[in-house]
Amino acid sequence: MARMSAPHSSSTPTRTVRKAVVPAAGLGTRFLPATKATPKEMLPVVDKPAIQYVVEEAAAAGLDDVLMVTGRHKRSIEDHFDNAFELEQALAAKGDAVRLDAVRDPARLANIHHIRQGEPLGLGHAVLCARRHVGDQPFAVLLGDDLIDPRETLLSRMLDVRDRHQGSVIALMKVPPEQIHLYGCAAVEATGEDDVVRVTGLVEKPSPQDAPSHYAVIGRYVLDPAVFDTLERTRPGRGGEIQLTDALQELAAGGTVHGVVFDGLRYDTGDKADYLRTVVRLACDRDDLGPEFVAWLKEFVSGLESGGADRGRLAA
Ligand code: UTP
Repeated sequence: MARMSAPHSSSTPTRTVRKAVVPAAGLGTRFLPATKATPKEMLPVVDKPAIQYVVEEAAAAGLDDVLMVTGRHKRSIEDHFDNAFELEQALAAKGDAVRLDAVRDPARLANIHHIRQGEPLGLGHAVLCARRHVGDQPFAVLLGDDLIDPRETLLSRMLDVRDRHQGSVIALMKVPPEQIHLYGCAAVEATGEDDVVRVTGLVEKPSPQDAPSHYAVIGRYVLDPAVFDTLERTRPGRGGEIQLTDALQELAAGGTVHGVVFDGLRYDTGDKADYLRTVVRLACDRDDLGPEFVAWLKEFVSGLESGGADRGRLAA
């Protein structure tokens, strides 16, 4: 049943994808009340907002045009990726070059554009809002609250797969059966490559017994512009939202969707527990903060393990 994937005709694929779309207009209800007046994509992960890691990932994969799809909290995202003259002047006057760079970096990552999704009608609708900006070219979609560890190269791998197979490419991760109801789930067929599958069907948030596989759809996509016509026709689905998964299901039925199976580090910063894990993990990995933080963390955990009322104070 495994079908071999078509070999690529050249050893140096020509990248056709230049644009990235970052949907960041969701309501963020899982993270209330923090997300009442701040988009979840702006929550800090150590010392940068989550969405900055996502834009850095797009830039690292060579995508130099990034469109943010924003909602009611548009302002803070726009400001973060813009110049901040007063702050820059103050830091320059102090000769604080390190912080000056940190303030300037977000605006230098790519050509950043913004568009408003008037109402949060679903991820599919957010992607459709990008139609005019994207035009008739394939494009990447990176969810603004979904972090792939900066050391991973998932997006580049997906762009390579798009260049070789055309159509659309989604990112998949194996999850335990009891977690599949949290994700879109893909029915797949093997190809000749270990980490590439052909996607034959998609179901949004299935119960474990209805899930066609253990492969969950995670927040990276490389989409063919054909998705826009499909989205125009897609009616509201689960939760009354226009689901990207429903449009991709139609494309998958036409045989034009591949999946890249990812087994690296990925964090959902829109979920409270995963957000905490992300901050701890990335802080531990930092050269400037890590050594001291890890030493504190070890002491804190050993305090927790010994239990008792003092457990929070032991490593203060
Ligand atoms: P989620 O599924 O996490 O939904 O969206 P949500 O509404 O943002 O958050 P919760 O579940 O209420 O906590 C996945 C991605 O799609 C974007 C979100 O901003 C997030 O990056 N999105 C979702 C939109 O841009 N517009 C929408 O209408 C819905």
